[in-house]
Amino acid sequence: MKYKVIRNPKYDFIGQSYASVYPNLHRYPATMLPQIGIEILNELNVKSGVLLDPYCGSGSSFASGLECGLTEMHGFDINPLAVLISKVKFTIVSLDKLAKAKQRFRNDVCEFLKKEKNIDALKKPQITNIDFWFSQKVIDYLTVIKHFIDKISDKNIRRFFLIPFSETVRECSYTRNNEFKLFRMKSEDMLHFNPDVIDVYLNKLSDSIYRYRNFYFPKLSEHININVQYSVFEPKNSFFNTVLTSPPYGDSRTTVAYGQFSTLSNEWLGIDYARKIDGMLMGGIKPKNVIKNGLIADYISEIDTLDSKRALEVSAFYNDLGDSIQRVAKSIRKGGKSIYVVGNRTVKNVQLPTDQFIAEKFEQTGFKHLVTYERALSSKSMPSKNSPTNKVGKTVNTMLYEYIVVSEKMV
Ligand SMILES: C[S@@+](CC[C@H](N)C(=O)[O-])C[C@H]1O[C@@H](n2cnc3c(N)ncnc32)[C@H](O)[C@@H]1O
Repeated sequence: MKYKVIRNPKYDFIGQSYASVYPNLHRYPATMLPQIGIEILNELNVKSGVLLDPYCGSGSSFASGLECGLTEMHGFDINPLAVLISKVKFTIVSLDKLAKAKQRFRNDVCEFLKKEKNIDALKKPQITNIDFWFSQKVIDYLTVIKHFIDKISDKNIRRFFLIPFSETVRECSYTRNNEFKLFRMKSEDMLHFNPDVIDVYLNKLSDSIYRYRNFYFPKLSEHININVQYSVFEPKNSFFNTVLTSPPYGDSRTTVAYGQFSTLSNEWLGIDYARKIDGMLMGGIKPKNVIKNGLIADYISEIDTLDSKRALEVSAFYNDLGDSIQRVAKSIRKGGKSIYVVGNRTVKNVQLPTDQFIAEKFEQTGFKHLVTYERALSSKSMPSKNSPTNKVGKTVNTMLYEYIVVSEKMV
């Protein structure tokens, strides 16, 4: 191994969940434990400066940064649902206005539902295969909720109300709720599935307000600037002091399908390319040739002897990750630190050393590798087993550890 890895149980956080620091406002796949970020920022004595997360997802690196006293943070993601969650968590909204908006919303919806023909007059949502995923009754009630959310004039409050809406979409759909991929429940379960949509929504809204009021709002102030953008990372020369991020472990289609997880929500939120998102994420576009350079090349070549299509898919991911690291690296100031939290996935029984790849790429762009910590993966909400051969039932252990790769910019 070229870049030394140290097993560090301090980072295992056995038995701890995300919720023990910042209860999430919305489920999201493969979230990073904010505790990891807090511990490593403290260890590196990062207490100020501008933080970047180029793959911010639901925003756990901002939670870590806030705990460590950082006041300026920038995040990027191309999944609209991720950007929505991050923005809502870290935007100041008046608690009084939220409470009043909730009251008004409840009254307006109740009043509206008194006349059945009101529902018929509403514009129908554009959702692919809508009847496959939702009963007519659920469609009607979700349409009413969305109609009244759209009427809220305050942009931040409207956005806040979309969080429980998105959760309600998932919970009241025929998807199997405990899975990140989109699978429909068994037909016998569908027969008994009759959620009270309005009730589900109002409960989720109350829950979201409770969590925001108790865990996010107290940490926010006018002096804190957390700027989340819906785009791929835009480089900014020597602008950031610290990068803290957990990038995807592989392309979305064969690892964690962020797009698929978010499809129904994104469609209800009006995103017309919701079904294309997985193809837009890192590693989504296959190159013509496999990677021939760097320490990852040998591993890819081994996969290539078994399955050339998979070797191209894997190359696509590392091409994108490498390009992104170059853009990130030039955006960091001298003396700045980069912290990447990743897993080393297995494809065709070949375990790919993504931690080594990241350390190597940073060293090629003016950084020095400081340390890589290995942590046991206990609570990340993603499968530790998968089917890398894509044969049903054939699974091997993958990613039982995660790696925290730390480098420093020298020039
Ligand atoms: C491991 S998740 C980040 C999780 C985050 N740390 C959290 O706690 O929620 C990786 C994120 O990268 C995003 N992503 C993938 N490819 C991207 C790209 N090219 N540009 C920006 N974001 C991307 C995905 O949408 C996903 O939200």
